Amino acid sequence: MRMRRVGWAVDYLDEAQKLVRDPETHAGKWKELFESRKTEAPEAPDTEEALLEGVPGRLHVEFGTGKGGYSLDMARLYPEEYFVAVEKNDSAAGIAASKYDAEGPENLRLIWNDARFMDTWFAPEEVDMIHLNFSDPWPKNRNAKRRLSADSFLRQYAAILKPDGKLAMKTDNAALFEYSLLQFSRAGWPLQEISVDFRRSEHPEDAMTEYERKFTTEGKPIYRAVWRRK
Ligand SMILES: C[S@@+](CC[C@H](N)C(=O)[O-])C[C@H]1O[C@@H](n2cnc3c(N)ncnc32)[C@H](O)[C@@H]1O
Repeated sequence: MRMRRVGWAVDYLDEAQKLVRDPETHAGKWKELFESRKTEAPEAPDTEEALLEGVPGRLHVEFGTGKGGYSLDMARLYPEEYFVAVEKNDSAAGIAASKYDAEGPENLRLIWNDARFMDTWFAPEEVDMIHLNFSDPWPKNRNAKRRLSADSFLRQYAAILKPDGKLAMKTDNAALFEYSLLQFSRAGWPLQEISVDFRRSEHPEDAMTEYERKFTTEGKPIYRAVWRRK
């Protein structure tokens, strides 16, 4: 599905408050960025689900956030944890940024750039958890390098994740899921969780993405796996 061009997106991104324009300067210091912007009094959770138990200070990064709903809802669910959403498409990033400015909590930021530069934004072993949600499948072999589960990305994930860090992936695409299972297995990442119909049962601990909501409404199964860093 190609994203329709949003005319105001680039102008909006020029002014966006929750957009981090210099992510390289925060490498190794993301916690400091979040902690320096915390309000004096702890923010009151604004949803009932925010009472879910979280681990204070954990750093999550979502690559390919699209319109940004997943990281926004996760940041609300886990107000003591930190979320960085990454999106390279101007229109999608503009929509995510406008949502984050309007209703985003302080534990959420956006990077508008290509995930392939991640090792300049995060220090080795800085990230606790990576999320890949409904990544573009790039079905043709000649485009395999663009998949977010291609070798070059796996090497970068391994470098920025903590030794006990994890990567969670959700997709509706069986071929991409199969490819990713093989990729992570060949790279030696231990598989921790797997489901071929994740939304068959309730998962209040994990937010739905925009794509996921659509596919779930259509009755399509959601594939999900979680790996530990090798
Ligand atoms: C199919 S959409 C899914 C959006 C969202 N995660 C969801 O589930 O609703 C995939 C998104 O990943 C973004 N994307 C793909 N490759 C990327 C990369 N290398 N760096 C940053 N974003 C990327 C695309 O621009 C697109 O917005």
